[in-house]
Amino acid sequence: MECNRIAIRNFRNIEYADVSFDPGVNILVGANAQGKTNLLEAIGFAAIGKSFRTVHEEEMIRFGADCAEVSVDFSDVRRKQNITVRMMKGRRRHIEHNKIKISRVSDVVGIFRTVLFCPEHLSLIKDGPGERRNYLDVAISQLYPIYLKSLQRYNQILKQRNQLLRDAEKDRSTLDATAELWSLQLAHEAAVIARYRKDYIDKASRVVEKCFQEMTGERETPTMTYLGSSKQEPDAYADVEETERVYQKLLTENLEREIAAGSTLWGIHKDDIEIAVNGRPARMFASQGQQRSLALAMKLAEGEVSASVFGENPVFLFDDVFSELDTARRNYLSGKICDRQVIITTCEPSGIAGGKLIRVENGTYND
Ligand SMILES: Nc1ncnc2c1ncn2[C@@H]1O[C@H](COP(=O)(O)OP(=O)(O)OP(=O)(O)O)[C@@H](O)[C@H]1O
Ligand SMILES: [Mg+2]
Repeated sequence: MECNRIAIRNFRNIEYADVSFDPGVNILVGANAQGKTNLLEAIGFAAIGKSFRTVHEEEMIRFGADCAEVSVDFSDVRRKQNITVRMMKGRRRHIEHNKIKISRVSDVVGIFRTVLFCPEHLSLIKDGPGERRNYLDVAISQLYPIYLKSLQRYNQILKQRNQLLRDAEKDRSTLDATAELWSLQLAHEAAVIARYRKDYIDKASRVVEKCFQEMTGERETPTMTYLGSSKQEPDAYADVEETERVYQKLLTENLEREIAAGSTLWGIHKDDIEIAVNGRPARMFASQGQQRSLALAMKLAEGEVSASVFGENPVFLFDDVFSELDTARRNYLSGKICDRQVIITTCEPSGIAGGKLIRVENGTYND
């Protein structure tokens, strides 16, 4: 997969830009607050319909403007394609794929595949489970559109069910029938999602082990294991119907506890990935450096799993990560990415192997 060109209007501090990229390494270089991350955000936004920095769409529209547009030309092994996103204040955004309107954002995910890596990801291991779930959701959604659909349905049902549980304190009249229906639907989506998450973690875990050992020269073995909130053995998730029954049971048998808590206590919104080194939880026992190596390996794994599913690499977007890494990890990462397309932002390009240099100044981009 290759990002060939991006044209932008009124996105963040970019009034207008038209930037072409090389098939290999591209380095966006400039002082602070010039628009390096903004350009990467625009690319990522076109790819997954979501910013990695904000959930508020209007923040991305240039101050003083009413609408913004991002248009990305990219190509996969088969053909050239385009995704264009238009945002208008107070209106729903408009998305086109090859000039054909796409009505739901989720339909665009997975067409232009990217892996974003920013300094915050370096604390994936010690962060809370929400960050690791987000890592899974972004990675898997780009591989399997059906996963994202399930996840959206799940979140919608979860919201309604939580409201019902809160209301049940005062009024129990509609509780039983509605709660049962939503529990069944929730259990079904949970089982589907759990199956995808487990499969992904199995695949990624092998890459993480390889990358970690290459990077550190250590013989210690990292593992990633799926920790579903249904407390099934990790192997059990392969059987979707069995998982569904486990979730159903949890959701129906514990209704009183959930009413007291005012929220749904079991489900894939509570999942985590257990990351261990030689069997010991990395969050507690791995050194700072090991934790960073593991996080970096998880991001590289995201790319490798995508490449194994589609037979081609995604586009890597690296926001300022090189400055956060020591020389050994920097060299390792440089070696890993030299044969694929990567768009890197940095204030200081020395130490990053070759490539196309794009100078960034006050929202403008020049070769
Ligand atoms: N909606 C907006 N309209 C106009 N400018 C904006 C908007 N949102 C952010 N900015 C500006 O964009 C600039 C930040 O750009 P960006 O985050 O891309 O910087 P950067 O080059 O990555 O810098 P650093 O090296 O510090 O990470 C800031 O000056 C900020 O005020
Ligand atoms: Mg930045």
